[in-house]
Amino acid sequence: MAENFGKILLTGATGFVGGRLLHALTGHGMEVRCLVRSAEKLRKRLFPEEEVEIVTGDLLKPETLDKALDGIEVAYYMVHSMGGRTIGENKVFAERDRSAARHFVKAADRAGLARIVYLGGLGETGDNLSKHLASRQEVAQILSSGRAQITELRAPNIMGAGGAPFEMLRSLVERLPVMVCPRWIETRAQPIDIRDMVHYLIGCLREPATTGLSLDVGGPEILSYRDMMEIYARVRGLKRLIITVPVLTPRLSTYWVNLVTPVPSGIVNPLVEGLRNEVICRDNRIQELIPIELTTFEQSICNALQEVEKGPGKLMSRQSCFLK
Ligand SMILES: NC(=O)c1ccc[n+]([C@@H]2O[C@H](COP(=O)([O-])OP(=O)(O)OC[C@H]3O[C@@H](n4cnc5c(N)ncnc54)[C@H](OP(=O)(O)O)[C@@H]3O)[C@@H](O)[C@H]2O)c1
Repeated sequence: MAENFGKILLTGATGFVGGRLLHALTGHGMEVRCLVRSAEKLRKRLFPEEEVEIVTGDLLKPETLDKALDGIEVAYYMVHSMGGRTIGENKVFAERDRSAARHFVKAADRAGLARIVYLGGLGETGDNLSKHLASRQEVAQILSSGRAQITELRAPNIMGAGGAPFEMLRSLVERLPVMVCPRWIETRAQPIDIRDMVHYLIGCLREPATTGLSLDVGGPEILSYRDMMEIYARVRGLKRLIITVPVLTPRLSTYWVNLVTPVPSGIVNPLVEGLRNEVICRDNRIQELIPIELTTFEQSICNALQEVEKGPGKLMSRQSCFLK
């Protein structure tokens, strides 16, 4: 498959979603060039049989981008700047993401890039949207302002070992027999399994009709965060008492989540702030364009727990990252 795309540029290959996508692309025999800040970090994550071209660069350093885009027709944009160690350090993520996207668009136009597949976030603009979700949408607009055609996949929480949504859920439910939770645990979302997400990302290449579209993607169930905690506890056979209180502000919630989870506060803060926004698909066009049988939330949790048993950052196999 896919030889006609030529070499594909992947940004964010050292990240949670980009890393899995990389294994899926190479598993399907595609030629991939990765733009990464640290070649060393990427090399450690490659499977022995995996061959990719690595170009060292930084989206915040525009002079490093021409080499990465040279001769490329299709690129995946899988980057965000959240993740500083402290809330203060992380305040500037939206500004960084704006600059990164602008630099990428300029370099893409210089290189004559034809197509960008961008993984953004669900959430309705104007609906008291969190800074994090608003930033994801701003990046989509910037990427659309260039000459390349963009496919935007708007995703909710992506569930898989090593990803922030699963790791936050896991630490909270594993460590706290009694959970005193803010009201946002009643907010609804439509979490999607990482394998299904990767399948959609690759499906966008195979299905030309996705070009130029902004498509919502989600899992098969709409669940509140309370439902997710309860399902996790049930899968693990843990008895948990969940009590909601009206007084926990996003900042206090962040401190509370930070106490029990290893996910850096720079990621926890914007994610927790975003939990007040429902992330539910507006439409299901993706299911007609790229039909797949979606994984239930419970099955996602079981899959992720199996990977956790292998050890931190260890995947079951390269094939386990994607559907056949
Ligand atoms: N995870 C989810 O549940 C979820 C849900 C919806 C949408 N998304 C979207 O999916 C995309 C990927 O998310 P993720 O969870 O995979 O994130 P992640 O694990 O935090 O990875 C982020 C990636 O971006 C790279 N990066 C950051 N700044 C960069 C820069 N200036 N130049 C080059 N690379 C840079 C990082 O490289 P380093 O390794 O060098 O830091 C890393 O590879 C994001 O757009 C995110 O908004 C994720």
